[in-house]
Amino acid sequence: EAATRELVLGRIRDVPDHPKPGVVFKDITPLLADPEAFTALTDWFAGLCVRHGATKVVGLEARGFILAAPVAVSAGLGFVPVRKAGKLPGATLGQAYDLEYGSAEIEVHAEDLAAGDRVMVIDDVLATGGTAGASLELIRRAGAEVAGVAVLMELGFLGGRARLETALGGAPLDALIAI
Ligand code: PRP
Ligand code: MG
Repeated sequence: EAATRELVLGRIRDVPDHPKPGVVFKDITPLLADPEAFTALTDWFAGLCVRHGATKVVGLEARGFILAAPVAVSAGLGFVPVRKAGKLPGATLGQAYDLEYGSAEIEVHAEDLAAGDRVMVIDDVLATGGTAGASLELIRRAGAEVAGVAVLMELGFLGGRARLETALGGAPLDALIAI
C-alpha cells in the first residue's frame, strides 16, 4: 500500500487558485494517463471491495465514475452510477444535501440497489462529506447495506469523516491519501 500511495501521489497535480482563488485543485488527470498508477489505484480499491465483502460498486458522478467503473470490472461486481439529479431516465430515489452555498441533489435508479446488496461507494475526493453522505442515505433507503466508502483523497481539514460517521453506521471509510 505504501508503494501504491507514493506512485499515485506523484501523479496528482496541485493547481493553485482553481476553480477559484485560494483553492488548490487536486488534478488526477496525470494519474489517469499513467497506466501503472491507474492500475495500482484500481487494485487498491478492488482489494477493499473484497476485504469488506462488497457485492456492488457505486461511483459518484463525475470523477467517481472514472475510478469506480474499472474497480467494478476488476472485482467482478456490478457498477451502479449515482448521478446528479435529472440525468437518470428510470424510476429514481433522490437525496438532497447541503453545499457551502445552497444545495444539490443526487439520484440512483431504484432498481439498481436492493436488500441483500452490500455496496462500496467510490469517489476521488472526500471533502465536506456531503456527496458521500447523501449516497449512503440513498443506499440505505433502497434497502441495501453499506460495505464501505473508499476515496483516493481525504481532505481532513474539511471534516468529512466526522460528518459521515452516523451515515456510515460503523462501515469503514478508507482513503489512500489523507491530506
Ligand atoms: C467533487 C469531488 C467529490 C465531491 C467532494 O465533486 O469529486 O465528488 O466534490 O465534496 P464533498 O465531500 O464536499 O461533497 P464535484 O461535484 O465538484 O464534481 P465532479 O462532477 O467533477 O466530480
Ligand atoms: Mg465528484
